[in-house]
Amino acid sequence: MDRTVVLITGCSSGIGLHLALRLASDPSQSFKVYATLRDLKAQGPLWEAARARGCPSGSLETLQLDVRDSDSVAGARARVTEGRVDVLVCNAGRGLVGPLEAHVAGAVSSVLDVNVAGTVRTLQAFLPDMKRRRSGRVLVTGSMGGLMGLPFNAVYCASKFALEGLCESLAVLLLPFGVHMSLIECGPVHTAFQEKLEGGLGGALDSADAKTRDLFSRYQRHCERVFREAAQDPEEVTEVFLTALRAQRPALRYFTTEHFLPLVRLRFDDSSGCSYVAAMRRAVFEDESAEGPESARVEPEAAGLGGSELGAPATAPQ
Ligand SMILES: NC(=O)c1ccc[n+]([C@@H]2O[C@H](COP(=O)([O-])OP(=O)(O)OC[C@H]3O[C@@H](n4cnc5c(N)ncnc54)[C@H](OP(=O)(O)O)[C@@H]3O)[C@@H](O)[C@H]2O)c1
Repeated sequence: MDRTVVLITGCSSGIGLHLALRLASDPSQSFKVYATLRDLKAQGPLWEAARARGCPSGSLETLQLDVRDSDSVAGARARVTEGRVDVLVCNAGRGLVGPLEAHVAGAVSSVLDVNVAGTVRTLQAFLPDMKRRRSGRVLVTGSMGGLMGLPFNAVYCASKFALEGLCESLAVLLLPFGVHMSLIECGPVHTAFQEKLEGGLGGALDSADAKTRDLFSRYQRHCERVFREAAQDPEEVTEVFLTALRAQRPALRYFTTEHFLPLVRLRFDDSSGCSYVAAMRRAVFEDESAEGPESARVEPEAAGLGGSELGAPATAPQ
C-alpha cells in the first residue's frame, strides 16, 4: 500500500520537528515525511533525533523550503519523488512581542510575510494538485493568538487571526473537492519560539513610554505564570495533529488544550467585545496577586487566559 506523503514546513525545531519525527517513527510505517527547513544548515538536530528515535530508513527526508520565497516552495514541491503530497502541514511561523512602537524596522512586514503570505504561498503551491486529485488534507498550526487579541502581541495576533479567515474560507470551498482543512489551535508550547522572536523580546523598548514599559513588565510576569501553569510539550501537541490527520471527517478546528476555551467562549458570547477586553486586562495587568499561590482563586477563567506562546518564560531575556 502507498504510504501517506506528508510535507511539513518549519522543521528545524519545535512543533514541526516533533511532528516530523512522530510520523516518521510511527509503528505503522505508513508515512513518508518531507521535513522542510528554511535553512538546511539547521537540519542537524532533526537527524540526531531521528536516529535516536530509530526512524526507519526512507521514512524521513529533508528539503529546503523558505515560505517567503515562491521559488523555494516550488522547488521543494518538485523534489517530492512520489509526485503528490497527501498531507500538507503549514507550520512555519515567527513571533513578534512588544509595544507596537518598539518593533524594529522590518519586523512587522517580516512576520506578516512568514506567517500570512508564507502560508498563502505554500497553499498556492500544493492545493491545485490536491483539488485535481479530489483528495488531500491541510493542517495549519493555529494559535490562541488567532482567536483572541493579546496585549503586546498585536501584529502576531493579526497574523494568526488572518490564518483563521484564510483557513475557514478555504474550508468552505474545498469540501466538494474532497480536500480537508484543519487548524490545530495551540496554547503555549515549550519550543524555541521565544528565542526566535523577530527583533528579540520587546524590540526597541526604549522607544516606548514609561507606563507602557511598566505594563510590558507586568505582561511578562503574567506570561511566566501562564507558561508555568499551562504550557504543553510538543509531543502532546503533535498527538492532536495525528487526531486531525486520522479523522474520517476532519473538523476545521482542533484545540490542543481546553485551558483557554472559557475566554474564547467569552469573546464570542459578548459580541460587543467589552467582556473580553475587561477580562484580559484584569488577567494580564491587574492580577498581580496571581504571582502567588492565590492565583487559582482569582477569576479562574481570566487568570489562565492570554499569554499563550507569546509570553516570556522565566529564562527569557528581559
Ligand atoms: N510555541 C508556542 O507556544 C506556539 C503556540 C501557538 C502556536 N505556535 C505556532 O507554532 C508554529 C511552530 O512554532 P514553534 O512553537 O514550533 O516554534 P519554533 O521552534 O520557533 O519553530 C518555528 C519554525 O518555523 C520556521 N520558520 C520561520 N521562518 C520561516 C520561513 N521563512 N520559512 C520556513 N520556515 C520558517 C523556523 O525555522 P528557522 O529556525 O529556520 O527560523 C522553525 O523551524 C508557529 O506557526 C507558531 O506560530 C506556537
